[in-house]
Formats: sequence, structure tokens, C-alpha cells
Amino acid sequence: MQTDILKEKPSTALAELPSMEALYQRVAHVIPEIEWHLFTPDIKEILRLKKERNAIILAHNYMTPEIFHCVADFVGDSLALARQAEATDADIIVMCGVHFMAETAKLLNPEKTVLIPDFKAGCSLAESVTGEDVRRLKAENPGVPVVTYINTTADVKAETDICCTSGNAVEVVESLGVDKVIMIPDEYLAQNIAKKTNVEMITWPGRCEVHEQFTREDIQNIRDHNEGVVVLAHPECPPEVLDEADFSGSTSAMLNFVEDQHPDTVALITECSMSDNIAARHPEITFVRPCNLCPHMKRISLKKIRAALEDNQFEVTIDPAIAEKARRPVDRMLALKK
Ligand code: 13P
Ligand code: SF4
Repeated sequence: MQTDILKEKPSTALAELPSMEALYQRVAHVIPEIEWHLFTPDIKEILRLKKERNAIILAHNYMTPEIFHCVADFVGDSLALARQAEATDADIIVMCGVHFMAETAKLLNPEKTVLIPDFKAGCSLAESVTGEDVRRLKAENPGVPVVTYINTTADVKAETDICCTSGNAVEVVESLGVDKVIMIPDEYLAQNIAKKTNVEMITWPGRCEVHEQFTREDIQNIRDHNEGVVVLAHPECPPEVLDEADFSGSTSAMLNFVEDQHPDTVALITECSMSDNIAARHPEITFVRPCNLCPHMKRISLKKIRAALEDNQFEVTIDPAIAEKARRPVDRMLALKK
């Protein structure tokens, strides 16, 4: 899902930017008025700077509601953000997400300025594997193609045949027409995808520190205490968690499921801001919140986004020799049918 929140207002004139009252209505269900007043000076300045500098803000679904609903131009899962980064004609991309997302945007836009508001916004999956690890895996499994989750560094992508996201992993694996792939680095994602295809997976012991914490007992507990609850889980969760869930999919697939099916009570087995962002638009839905925070995503704040636009911080760069190799598996993924 992509939300084109402010696109219809191309002018740089502050008077034509959305009113603070209109913006507050987007988040009134999840942000108390007293807290909102602390956000408004930064929101106003971010909206002004964005227009002045021809910058675009891409925000992952795990951003907090004041970012997701009030300053982002486009929101979505990793796949949607990569597609949007590929399509934009803005001069500056501010990636409100984690470092691998900003690096992917830079791979697709070598000439543009790509900023990440906090350089330390990392990812336990991206940290779990290096380019050297992939070279070793390839040497141990000659001829087996490497499918790499987009949650990786450019070094790792440079050793990869094709990237995937949680939104297209089955399609990507099957697009290769082989009976075995090296699927790195998320061991649980690989195990979950393996259940949906006949392609054999050689896996790597990487984990998402947020999703690995959920257990089968968590889901059983939620069901025991919330009659009729619909449980949606992200495929980075352990396989036994997905076995207990009603649906699994990328963050945008979860969001679309809730908007299409409109369950009375729902539990999103994923990062906490997902529920807040959907609840802001759907006060009538009850959200059970067994969520975990991603400490990396939560490094991104309005103040840091404003500083990024004011001082061009922090600019993402990639060694051109690595970038040339790393762009290919991302392009190959994006070339697959949407
Ligand atoms: P999505 O592509 O589903 O948004 O997942 C990205 C991520 O980092 C989830 O932890
Ligand atoms: Fe990485 Fe997990 Fe955070 Fe997503 S939620 S950015 S996979 S640590």
C-alpha cells in the first residue's frame, strides 16, 4: 500500500500546505492533543523545507503516527519504498526507516542525495551476514543462486543474484526456475517461504530481533483473552507463530488485509507502530497489542527529520564499485511483475 498524502499540493507556499488542524484529524485517535502541540513546530518546518528543497519523505510502516500520517509523502513496506525511490523525480530522498532502506534508495538513485535522519538506524538481519559470508556460501554450494532479503548491506547485495522482500519472496524464488536456492539471511523467513514453494532452501542463521521474540504461546494467549480476534503475523516471526496465525504477509499486506477485511478485533504480530498507524484511520477496530518495538526504527524522530532537511544529514554513500554490483539484484527484483 502506498499513501500519496501530500502529492496534490505541489506549491512551495506555506499557506498552501495542509493546516495543522487538518493534519491533527489524521492522528487524533492515537495522539493526545497535549502531545500534538509539541510536534507542530517541527511538522510545519519539515513541510516547508521539503517543498523548498524539492525533497521527498519515504516512510516505512513502522514509523510513528506523526511521521507516517503527517510528514511522509509515501508510506509502505520495503518493496513499496524501493519502487517509490526508483520512481521519484525529487532531488533529495529522506528515508524514514533503517539504513538498508536508505542504501537501497541510493543504489537506485546514484545521482540523488539520499538522507537518513539517524545513521545508527540499523537492523539485526543486515548485521547478521557479510559479503565474505556470502562468498563462502557460494563456494560451498557451487551454481546455487543466492536470493537475498532486502534487509542487507550493499556488500551482501553485491554477491547476490536477486533480492526479495517479505512482499514478494515466493514470487522471486520461483522466478529463478531452479530447485534449490541460497536464501539469506533470515532463517525464519526462509523456513516460512519454504512452506509455500517446492524450491529447497539453504538458510543462514540471521534473525529479526523484534519478530523472533514472538511465541506460539503469545498467540494462544491472545485468542484465549480476545474472542473472535483475527491474528496477522509478519513472516520474520518463527514458523510456529505463523502456524497459529490467520494470515501472514509483509507490513503492507497486513495493512491491506485490515482495510479490506475490516475485522472487529485484530492482533498484529509485528512492530508496535503498525497498530497505531492503522488505528489512527480506523478507530472502530479494536487492536490487541502484543507488539515489540524496533529500537532501530524508533531512532527516527521529527526533530531528526527536520535536522536532515536543514543540514543534509546524514548522507548515504556507497563505494561505486560495490554499488554497481549491488544494484543488479535490486533491479532484477523490481523488474518482476508488480
Ligand atoms: P516489510 O518489507 O514487510 O515492511 O518488512 C521490513 C522489515 O524490516 C520488517 O521488520
Ligand atoms: Fe530489522 Fe527487525 Fe527492525 Fe525490521 S523490525 S528493521 S527486520 S530489526
